[in-house]
Amino acid sequence: MEQSMSNVPGPSGRSSPSSTPRIGPSPGSVEEKYDVREKIGEGSFGDVYVGYRKSDRKRFAIKMTDSRYDSDVPGYPEELPKEVVMMTILRDSPCRFLIKLQEWFLVKEEKFPDGRTIKSIVMVIEHPGLCRTLAEFLKEHPHLERRDARTLIQQIVKAAQACTRKEICHFDIHDHNILVISPPLHIKLIDFGCGLHIFHDPENHPRPDTVISPERAEKRTMNQLVTIVQDIARHCSSIPTGFMEFIAACWSPQYVVEEIQHTVDEILDQPWLRN
Ligand SMILES: Nc1ncnc2c1ncn2[C@@H]1O[C@H](COP(=O)(O)OP(=O)(O)O)[C@@H](O)[C@H]1O
Ligand SMILES: [Mg+2]
Repeated sequence: MEQSMSNVPGPSGRSSPSSTPRIGPSPGSVEEKYDVREKIGEGSFGDVYVGYRKSDRKRFAIKMTDSRYDSDVPGYPEELPKEVVMMTILRDSPCRFLIKLQEWFLVKEEKFPDGRTIKSIVMVIEHPGLCRTLAEFLKEHPHLERRDARTLIQQIVKAAQACTRKEICHFDIHDHNILVISPPLHIKLIDFGCGLHIFHDPENHPRPDTVISPERAEKRTMNQLVTIVQDIARHCSSIPTGFMEFIAACWSPQYVVEEIQHTVDEILDQPWLRN
């Protein structure tokens, strides 16, 4: 089924612009359409393989995972696996630092007596070519040039900002969920399996396990960005002190929701990062 997301209300009532291709599962199986080859990654929730589309040999990442939570795409009648929903909403983002979902397949659905449903799904995801995780990249590059550190930091923060603009909190931004591609040096934020909708009143949402308040989302994102920036800074001694002092001031204890010192937008507004 194909459906437009034009001007339909988002989870918090705002409308989401532009349209998207297929939202529901593709018919048939992944093997009919793709040659699935070697494993390229393994995380806590699934295995990722490289696959080639049979029609044109284009390379994709094939992620096989079990999904325990369903969620909604604004304007689409059925609930779908949460990671699929997150990536479907983000597919509309103009940000080029978010990995894109191509299509997905439902393999099987198991219903348990307690009402839980676990769906085994296969997601076909953009493969950006020669790449490694940020963790691997930093291991390979103990001494980063200041210009490259700036590029990485700016793009990672922009990726996080793009998620928030679509009312999504990635929730799991770390060095294994960021791919680094070069040349030219650029990043892709991956793995939306822990993503949550940003919703103003989480307790009164029909699916509270799929939402997070704007304050908690901002805090979670900020703290994860601080950790990553400090990690990158360990590999580059020439980042301006003023910028690193600002970054240190952005961290706040997870459970003190009210005390958000700074926002993601403010990081990008720092003189060192401003375009
Ligand atoms: N689109 C992709 N292109 C290339 N490699 C990928 C892609 N998606 C995932 N990977 C690799 O697979 C690993 C696990 O993928 P991820 O989506 O993070 O799974 P999990 O949810 O299990 O953590 C990543 O750390 C990365 O090495
Ligand atoms: Mg991961």
